[in-house]
Amino acid sequence: MRLAALEAFAPCCPRCAGAAPPLALEPGWQGSAGRVDHGVLACAACGTAYPVVGGVPVLVADPGRYLGEAGAYLLARDDLPEAVEDAIGRHMPPGGWFDAARHYASTYGRDHWGAHDPADPGWPAPGSARRLLEAALPALPDGPGLVLELGCAAGGVTHALADIARAPVLGLDLSAPLARIAQRALQQGLARYPLRLQGTEFALRQVAVPPPATLAETWIADAMAPPLPAGCARLVVALNLLDCVADPRGLLAAIARLLRPGGVALVGTPFDWSPNATPAEAWPGARAQREPTPALAELLDAAGLRPLAPARELDWTLRLHARAAMTYRASILCAERGG
Ligand SMILES: C[S@@+](CC[C@H](N)C(=O)[O-])C[C@H]1O[C@@H](n2cnc3c(N)ncnc32)[C@H](O)[C@@H]1O
Repeated sequence: MRLAALEAFAPCCPRCAGAAPPLALEPGWQGSAGRVDHGVLACAACGTAYPVVGGVPVLVADPGRYLGEAGAYLLARDDLPEAVEDAIGRHMPPGGWFDAARHYASTYGRDHWGAHDPADPGWPAPGSARRLLEAALPALPDGPGLVLELGCAAGGVTHALADIARAPVLGLDLSAPLARIAQRALQQGLARYPLRLQGTEFALRQVAVPPPATLAETWIADAMAPPLPAGCARLVVALNLLDCVADPRGLLAAIARLLRPGGVALVGTPFDWSPNATPAEAWPGARAQREPTPALAELLDAAGLRPLAPARELDWTLRLHARAAMTYRASILCAERGG
């Protein structure tokens, strides 16, 4: 985390929900050249201490719960030589936490950064999420406000947004391994991710990426309870996140809360509902009433976000391994928060 990002984004306590002064960096932090590698951000109102680990702040409303569930991912090594990581991967059970985290890192690390890798296999074309953004983003709203990305994964779209917006961009994601890939790529110009070949066989990719055009950061935070005040954003991008959260309508309400009047949301989703992510009762379309899923425009409208154009239907393709890819049909829409 850069000191400049603390100033530009002024994170607030996700527990106090904007009712407290911005979080303050406690003395004794470690880092250099304006970058905080390890430290603690504290809330003056409730006293909660939020760790910054390996340059990534963990700004979730219930740090104890998050660390209890995901602490192993946050504290796991991501600097081991390829041969060592490979040996560990061969011992760890397929489908276990290590294997699952590598799959996830492969899929999103590669889609977000594979276009910069001279040795990328090329099939399917990397950069699918970036193409969704570029196809659907309207002219950026002028005036004050932050540019945010929710569910930013490995950071490739955050990087693209910095190029487009020429303003500081902040990405939020709950996944520690993905936030770490993103932060290293954005801050150190190195995208480091495992590329799945087949089975439990992976190749470590270490790809030089150009620095973002402006300040761009990734923090670990919940899009449903972001560490930012209401009305702070002029643009909120959330691609392929709606069907990954427990409360999709709650996510749209959170996006509307983040936007200032006249601010714009860009939301895209393949509506790939799964009970592992979203309890069936919360799938829009009230499964119990056997109603069809409402269109994206209807969902956004209900959250106070006025669609600016008809939804686009665009392909979103992710590489799973050397012989498998998955193509989703994503619905994408821009909508404006009324005054
Ligand atoms: C399907 S992936 C899409 C990633 C990226 N937006 C893209 O299109 O390539 C969903 C991402 O959202 C993150 N995520 C899920 N629930 C979240 C939440 N409540 N808050 C923040 N991020 C979340 C996941 O960790 C994952 O990186």
